[in-house]
Amino acid sequence: MGKGSGSNASTISFTINGKEYHVDANTSNVNSETMLVDFIRDHASLKGTKVMCREGGCGACVVTVRTKDAAIGADVTKGINSCMTPVYSCQGWDISTVEDLGNKDVGYDVIQNRLVNFHGTQCGYCTPGMIMSMNSLRESKKDGLVTVKEVEDNFDGNICRCTGYRPILDAFKSLAVDALEDLKRKCDDIEDCASCPCPMRQGQGRKCDKAKPKENSTIVLANGSVWTTAVDLKVVFQAIKQSNSDGKRMRFVAGNTSTGVYKHEGPYSSYIEINGIPELKQKKVDSCEVLLGGGVTLTAAIAFFADVAKTKAGFEYVAQISKHMERIANVPVRNNATIAGNLMIKHAHHDFPSDVFVLLETAGAKLTIASSDCTIGMKLVTMMDFLKTDMNGKLILSVHFPKRSTDYHFRSFKITRRFQNAHAYVNAGFLLKVVDGKIAEQPRICYGGINPQFVHATATEEFLAKNPDIGNDQVLQNAFQILDKEIKPDFHPPEAIPEYRKFLTQSLLYKTILGILPGKASQHIKSGGPDIPRSISKGTQVFESDKSDSRLYKAMPKYEGAWQASGEAEYTTDIPKRPDELFGVFILSTIGSGTLKSIDATEALAMPGVVQLITAKDIKGKNNFMEFFFFPTAAPQPVFVNVGDKVSYHGQSIGLLLAENRQIAVEASRKVKVAYEGVTKPIVDIMDAIKNVEAAGLLPKHFIGTFTSEGDPSVSVNHTISGDMKIGSQYHYFMETLNCLCIPREDGIDMHIPTQWMDHTQNNLALVLGIPCSSINIQVKRIGGGFGGKITQPAHIAAAAAVAATTVRQPVRIVLDIETNMKMLGRRLPFYMKYEVGFNDVGKIGNLKTEIFCDAGFTPNEADSIIAAMHMQNVYKALGWEVKPGFVTTNTATNTSVRAPGSVKGVALIENIMEHIAFYLKKESLLVRQVNFIEKGDPFLPTFFGGGNFEEENQIPRLVEEMKKSGDYENRKKFVETFNKENRWKKRGLSLIPVKFHVGYEFGCNFPAMIAIYHFDGTVSCTHGGVEMGQGLQTKVLQTIAQSFQIPMDKIKLKPTNNFVGANAFSSGGSIASEVCCFAALRACETIKERLKPILEKLENPTWEQLIAAAHQAKIDLTASYTPGPKDDLKEYEVWALALAEVEIDVLTGEYKVARTDLIEDCGKSLSPGVDLGQIEGGYIFGQGMWTTERIVHCKETGELLTNRTWEYKPPETKDIPEDFRVSLLKDAPNPHGILRSKATGEPILCATVAVYFALRNAITAARADKGNTEWFKLDSPITPEDVYQHCLTTSTDFKF
Ligand SMILES: Cc1cc2nc3c(=O)[nH]c(=O)nc-3n(C[C@H](O)[C@H](O)[C@H](O)COP(=O)(O)OP(=O)(O)OC[C@H]3O[C@@H](n4cnc5c(N)ncnc54)[C@H](O)[C@@H]3O)c2cc1C
Ligand code: FES
Ligand code: FES
Repeated sequence: MGKGSGSNASTISFTINGKEYHVDANTSNVNSETMLVDFIRDHASLKGTKVMCREGGCGACVVTVRTKDAAIGADVTKGINSCMTPVYSCQGWDISTVEDLGNKDVGYDVIQNRLVNFHGTQCGYCTPGMIMSMNSLRESKKDGLVTVKEVEDNFDGNICRCTGYRPILDAFKSLAVDALEDLKRKCDDIEDCASCPCPMRQGQGRKCDKAKPKENSTIVLANGSVWTTAVDLKVVFQAIKQSNSDGKRMRFVAGNTSTGVYKHEGPYSSYIEINGIPELKQKKVDSCEVLLGGGVTLTAAIAFFADVAKTKAGFEYVAQISKHMERIANVPVRNNATIAGNLMIKHAHHDFPSDVFVLLETAGAKLTIASSDCTIGMKLVTMMDFLKTDMNGKLILSVHFPKRSTDYHFRSFKITRRFQNAHAYVNAGFLLKVVDGKIAEQPRICYGGINPQFVHATATEEFLAKNPDIGNDQVLQNAFQILDKEIKPDFHPPEAIPEYRKFLTQSLLYKTILGILPGKASQHIKSGGPDIPRSISKGTQVFESDKSDSRLYKAMPKYEGAWQASGEAEYTTDIPKRPDELFGVFILSTIGSGTLKSIDATEALAMPGVVQLITAKDIKGKNNFMEFFFFPTAAPQPVFVNVGDKVSYHGQSIGLLLAENRQIAVEASRKVKVAYEGVTKPIVDIMDAIKNVEAAGLLPKHFIGTFTSEGDPSVSVNHTISGDMKIGSQYHYFMETLNCLCIPREDGIDMHIPTQWMDHTQNNLALVLGIPCSSINIQVKRIGGGFGGKITQPAHIAAAAAVAATTVRQPVRIVLDIETNMKMLGRRLPFYMKYEVGFNDVGKIGNLKTEIFCDAGFTPNEADSIIAAMHMQNVYKALGWEVKPGFVTTNTATNTSVRAPGSVKGVALIENIMEHIAFYLKKESLLVRQVNFIEKGDPFLPTFFGGGNFEEENQIPRLVEEMKKSGDYENRKKFVETFNKENRWKKRGLSLIPVKFHVGYEFGCNFPAMIAIYHFDGTVSCTHGGVEMGQGLQTKVLQTIAQSFQIPMDKIKLKPTNNFVGANAFSSGGSIASEVCCFAALRACETIKERLKPILEKLENPTWEQLIAAAHQAKIDLTASYTPGPKDDLKEYEVWALALAEVEIDVLTGEYKVARTDLIEDCGKSLSPGVDLGQIEGGYIFGQGMWTTERIVHCKETGELLTNRTWEYKPPETKDIPEDFRVSLLKDAPNPHGILRSKATGEPILCATVAVYFALRNAITAARADKGNTEWFKLDSPITPEDVYQHCLTTSTDFKF
């Protein structure tokens, strides 16, 4: 084999950031399964590009590529997911990573600059992907000009868990040609802003000058597999023949994105890359058909269809295909994904809900299939025949769409759990020829997502052909009955229930007919026709900014923002690989309950590169990574289950397989054989667990406490109601999964780990390893999102890595893939809460009894129902209450803190009670809330942390008055009432939720801080015990130091957190770390300032540098540290917040949107309003996800977590945020008790997100009322579209004109 790119090559070439890379199959250690992201990070050492899901679901890995269009030779620039792109498919590409745009030395690109200055970064882990998605959009446009709409539509493939998206969208929209005035004004302010940390360089992206066309080549890879790059069909067919005769398992490589859906179908022994074949990329339209090559990408098809629909008579219907395709996958996936590739997934997996297949079959499209022996040759086949065709060794050459007159109505639907980037519960296509209101030929009615065989509703099609009067109610009812009979949905959790999917088949047909004949429908029925409209999202932020020259109380850009936006910010996963480093992959249990019988790793260990399986036998200390913890319910959590011991849940760690690299470790881990005995059916649902405990008479033992208060004798109770509420779990979905690097050292180990609580990780490591705490050196530079999931869980990963590293005496790295992270580790605790409440005629509560159960997972270690009980009082009097927090255990991972742990449930419970009372009394819920508002002097409900009295003024009445004005509350209430009267099939709901969030230091405030001033130039370093995870802690500390010393901020650098200076620090959680670290830093500054005083007195107006130099000469200690403690008497306080949410639901589909949200939060005198607004917006969207799209589902039989990847688990995306999102910080509200007059942010607002739940509830209530049902109903959360359907009580008998 020669080098070069000829037909028998061993090397492929491409450029990254302008530099040429030649990958030699013989020497490079790059194989067919090596993805571009790994090459970029590990071979090119460009760590800016991040990786999380490896399945196209998160966007962390997006890079810009420039290629040549095979059909016309033109340059194509696009953003792609480097996690699904094989390196060998990059031949000829010109690739840019985030490092290409700018850095601290050459200056930053305008995209990076805008994102930083619009406060669009928090933890920064999503940021490079966001930047490169925007860069790709900009570069793909002529002259780099983008519109606001293009920006709005461009980020469906990028998840950000921190920011709530609004600032990211605003930052990028500010670059649009049609940017709104207020965004432009913000930019002017930024450009004027002297404190901006980013030197600018004007970039419009690079021109496509390095991309080269592909050439035919065949490369034999080191592992014996063959990679053929084909640019003509002859080579494809030769390669197929060769593969067949060599008995090789062959696969075409187009976009390779199907590996994001079906992840584990490879590896293959022959790959034929077909992106350079002109025939597959052609796009044509003539007088009778539209022709697209099978290799046309979805992005190219969308643009082509949109254009053809506008310009070519007879093809107007393809506009709908274009629109529908915009909802397939996401932008970077669609940029590579081809039509043929999608159809071939459907061919291989009939159960795959392919949107492309449904669209093509509805349209009556046909395929040209080619094979080497020309048995099919250029014959056109229908889509249904294609499904039956043996496609082995055959190519889909092209797709053909027929011409249709305007009598044909084409409508299609995709009903999903989340609006963007989600596969369909059910997709549907309808092609109806309608003349004079009547069906004129047999319609085409197709559905996906029903069962693997089902495509056409043939009986319904035939019925309508014979009964064409679709404007007749009876005809419709008969059609629905026929449809009901022929639709037989299967059921595979976590997909939606069959009943709902069947309903959708009927409601979507009804919707289509209403859309075709709107004139037939009565006014309020018409609302069933259109989809829920969504306009371009917008937001306002109102806050006070200090006008003085103070460094505090101003919206400063984030300290590390520019480094995050350029990929310069280093995370633990970015620490370069050491030559002797091993990679560890966890072996997880595959039963939910039973005993571990044996582990056999013989086959895995025989693989080259595999080193050792680490198990419980290798643990020298205690096999418990939670031995050190503070809750009273502590129970052991083993690092690895020992042979002979109990397996408590599906996904529990059994061992850690070590290999030379990740790819080998992952492959080998599948070969480890584990046997079990005594397997029993697991309990995975909180309700089953409660039932079991109750049946065994053990319920009393499951209460953690009983909190009671005296009643109010003045309330004469004359109504009593009871109810209950079930709230589901939530995954943290940090973009940086748990990971660590453990390096054995002379005195112990170095542990690099993103932990929110070093002390916990350190102490448990010492216990597991059986070594002193002083032998453990922990470093935390920054965290790519924590949200509570990195408080206790890192101890597990750290313990496994440390046991492994000390056993093999080599560095060990673990980076959890999303499935392992989700299966092995816990999430938010599910809750079940019951109440009985007595009240008077105005709704004032006289007595209340509640039981609050949480599902703690397999140990009760983090049972946070206690916190729920503490927060349940919220903004109300608690007189005559009895609150009993309790827990149950299930066969699931031990659940753990997630943003606002417990508190969000407590607030939800009391607010549910308020709503229930109001519903019962037929009063507006605000009035009921108002009569129960807490007043100065009222007692707190006594809990574990004491009682006492409320000694402030309740701020909620003030916030309500403000909201009434700024949120236009009364008018919107009327609008919603009118809207609901006028529209049968769309409903709106409005909800106003007040929150009082108690901030205290019950668990500790010991965050040490250390300041060092360098005598040579007066620059300052600081490190402290707090952990930066996106919450802006470093920025606030920086501002505090700059203010205290009165020096510019660029003189100060913040150093990574470690357990030497940050010894014994408490967990960075509960929103208090930022404030306390500022306090500690301030005290340390004051100590130094005190020492500087005598020097200052001797000098005349010295500069800071002169002062420091003189102090050094005078032998003054220029370092100081401080740890806050009881002596500082930090006072607890309340944070006040109010949320007003408005939603719209589509009663016919269950879909919804958040139309508007108004938030007011009291941050005291905000230390850094940009940071605090980010915490509020981000916290709110995080909470909204918990109440809506984020559902956790376990298999009831095996206990397996079924929602364990991005394909199934759906946090909010850019089009889930409120269309109109208005946030303000409470004015004139300095906190007399807080640090520097500020208040904590982050968690309080999350408690207010229950407003979305109640707004949805109110909309559903309106739909039920139209069905004549005015009963209170139990509504579990999260509320997915499926739940909206279930509670609206609609049936097809309601579908009338
Ligand atoms: C995150 C994500 C979300 C998605 N969401 C959706 C969704 O909502 N709806 C939906 O319908 N799809 C969805 N998809 C699927 C996506 O549309 C497909 O992955 C894509 O279209 C496959 O095209 P590809 O070019 O990448 O195929 P590849 O992955 O390259 O190939 C797939 C298969 O097709 C074969 N193949 C490729 N080209 C040809 C050809 N010309 N002739 C014969 N065989 C060929 C290959 O051998 C292989 O077996 C999603 C995918 C991802 C990753
Ligand atoms: S890592 Fe590539 S999309 Fe998630
Ligand atoms: S800033 Fe986007 S995920 Fe953290």
